[in-house]
Amino acid sequence: MEYTTLGRTGLKVSVAGFGCGGKSRAGQGSGKSTADSVALIHRAMDQGVNFFDTARSYGTESILGAAIKGRPRDAVIISTKNHESGVSAEQLVSAIDVSLKELQTDFIDVFHLHGVGPEVYDHAINELAPAMLREQERGKIRFLGITETSPNDHGQKMLQRAVTDDCWDVMMLGFNMMHQVARTRLFPQTSKQKIGTLIMFAVRSLFSVPGRLEKTMGKLAEEGRVPAWLGERETPLDFLLGDGGADSVIEAAYRFARHEPGADVVLFGTGDTAHLDANIQSILKPPLPEPTRAKLTDLFGHLEGIGLDGPGAR
Ligand SMILES: NC(=O)c1ccc[n+]([C@@H]2O[C@H](COP(=O)([O-])OP(=O)(O)OC[C@H]3O[C@@H](n4cnc5c(N)ncnc54)[C@H](OP(=O)(O)O)[C@@H]3O)[C@@H](O)[C@H]2O)c1
Repeated sequence: MEYTTLGRTGLKVSVAGFGCGGKSRAGQGSGKSTADSVALIHRAMDQGVNFFDTARSYGTESILGAAIKGRPRDAVIISTKNHESGVSAEQLVSAIDVSLKELQTDFIDVFHLHGVGPEVYDHAINELAPAMLREQERGKIRFLGITETSPNDHGQKMLQRAVTDDCWDVMMLGFNMMHQVARTRLFPQTSKQKIGTLIMFAVRSLFSVPGRLEKTMGKLAEEGRVPAWLGERETPLDFLLGDGGADSVIEAAYRFARHEPGADVVLFGTGDTAHLDANIQSILKPPLPEPTRAKLTDLFGHLEGIGLDGPGAR
């Protein structure tokens, strides 16, 4: 495994982070047992993954709690999150206590406000952040994080505002081969302020559900947003493969995200053992060849919001 420093938190984190949410929810999304999900998390740990992301709404905090039980607490970095629309500071503090119980731990390394839209950011910064800072002083959380609602905020407006406030140590944001918005609108600021970054939506359903990429490309070509030839190909992104390139489009997608300057941890979500192993290997591979990377920027750098579907939208 390779490790990096998560911005100003100073946490040494694996560059591959296991996400216990998305459609897969560490296997819970496909009906796996708790023991299977725990085994999957252990398999990730055995390969050096030390960063694990969950959330109250995923229903996987207790699974992560069971998986880390009996292991040295400093062997894992726990990221969890909560944020219901309209949640009060008091309710958020109670939610942190519930998360601690579910995770069977005394502290959360990174606690995020989850899926904050631009329209509720005022409440987040004025009411919720001060409460989180108090919980940080009490030692319940080590660092404050905030995550965007990628499907509803394609231009990353909320995070562009959040980077101007001091309190957020970590940000979770969507970035992929066909949604490269953060390169110009966020990474320069997060890097300057040493805000740790966690990448989500690197693969999601666009690159994993069979036929989804071809259909999306066809539509984009029809709308004139990508060159026509991309809409006509059976395998539109075959230029990613072979000759020093990737073995699969999914591998290319993880490598693309991993080596983007400004990206610290690439979160991958899976409920499948073989996918887990493959994704860790992909994230550890070198950058895509420079001409391929340049081509991806040239073809798709102007797109916004592609591949950012909610978990229900598959
Ligand atoms: N607003 C937020 O805060 C927010 C939103 C979204 C995500 N997240 C976090 O980010 C994490 C990553 O989420 P994501 O959905 O963006 O993950 P992702 O890694 O981009 O995509 C995961 C999807 O691809 C499939 N997949 C993964 N590896 C594969 C492989 N090698 N071959 C074929 N299919 C593969 C998975 O299904 P299988 O189970 O079949 O592998 C799953 O459906 C989440 O778990 C969560 O922790 C946070």
